[in-house]
Amino acid sequence: MKAASISDYRALAQARLPHFLFEYLDGGSYDELTLRRNREDLQAIALRQRVMRDVSGIDLSGDLFGQSVKLPVALAPVGLSGLYARRGEVQAQRAALEAGVPFTLSTVSACSIEEVRRASGAPFWFQLYMIRDRAFMADLLRKAAEAECGALVFTVDMPVPGTRYRDYRSGLAGAPGLGGAARRFAQAMVRPGWAYDVGLRGGPHSLGNVAPVLKGKTGIEDFFAWMRDNFDPSVTWRDLEWVRSQWRGPLIVKGILDPDDAREAIRCGADGVVVSNHGGRQLDGVLSSVAALPRVAEAVAGDATVLADGGVRSGLDVVRMLARGADSVLIGRAWVYALAARGQAGVADVLRLLAAEMRVAMALTGANRLADLTADSLEDLTHTATKGSRR
Ligand code: GLV
Repeated sequence: MKAASISDYRALAQARLPHFLFEYLDGGSYDELTLRRNREDLQAIALRQRVMRDVSGIDLSGDLFGQSVKLPVALAPVGLSGLYARRGEVQAQRAALEAGVPFTLSTVSACSIEEVRRASGAPFWFQLYMIRDRAFMADLLRKAAEAECGALVFTVDMPVPGTRYRDYRSGLAGAPGLGGAARRFAQAMVRPGWAYDVGLRGGPHSLGNVAPVLKGKTGIEDFFAWMRDNFDPSVTWRDLEWVRSQWRGPLIVKGILDPDDAREAIRCGADGVVVSNHGGRQLDGVLSSVAALPRVAEAVAGDATVLADGGVRSGLDVVRMLARGADSVLIGRAWVYALAARGQAGVADVLRLLAAEMRVAMALTGANRLADLTADSLEDLTHTATKGSRR
């Protein structure tokens, strides 16, 4: 199948990946209410069509934390993404460079900071969690600075991991020892394309940044055990101040849904926030990102850059997020589906698709520049519903 859209890439990824890897990527926590809300709330936003407005000069470029970008989009950090295609994070970074957007490397990636920097020859953004071992954190921050990472994305919505039922059902979580390994092996064997590309030729299959502290334990259950044991539930704003003191570059706090938290992050020195519910993977039942976005954007307007993620599957969704107050958007699953399906070329294609879809959405809402996308670019549906006509 030739992929025409991100949902096509999702189908291709499902056909290529071992079941447990697809489920880990695709799923959310508990009943997946918030996962669904992220999509449904975006889809429910009606764009306001405007015509006859000379939209011959559409410009998608801008500036993000001092870096010029060709699209108001960045690749979100996704753990284990290097297992979705051979040395996956390197491929994704190359696609991002080609498209002129930032790539964010997750702490729990297959490829280390050094590997991605060396193989791609250019800086990227680095994501970090609060980890109990502060010396290890300081060391990672030093490596990120040495690699000239353009921003630090500090994830704050994971003091404890949310439970994802799909991971238990697939055999990724709660399946220790040989039994679990055999289940996952059987799932890999019926995906020969992936087994050859990643299983056979894509090693080492460890977490590049964490390998030094895992001391030779490379199994997937070792990784989850490490996450459970090392994520720090005692994290507070004081720790953000500590991170701020260790990192000189732009600091982006990811995982904010509440305006008070956004203000606090900025008080502690954040340069940007990501309005996010971790792709519906943490607290199920919270607001969708796009529903939380306007109040956060209003609370920090002018003081910080506002990014948002959660459910973005097209350039139309990017436009919706911008019109609701985001300066830029992170995509997560969207790029990893494409990476799984077609590697670097897939990620490059997704970024092209987003740009093309954005151009159409902007042309037909009468916007030439990103700054033209405001609440005015959207229909006021409450008004329509109560009065029968819109204005
Ligand atoms: C890690 O951040 C995850 O959502 O699995």
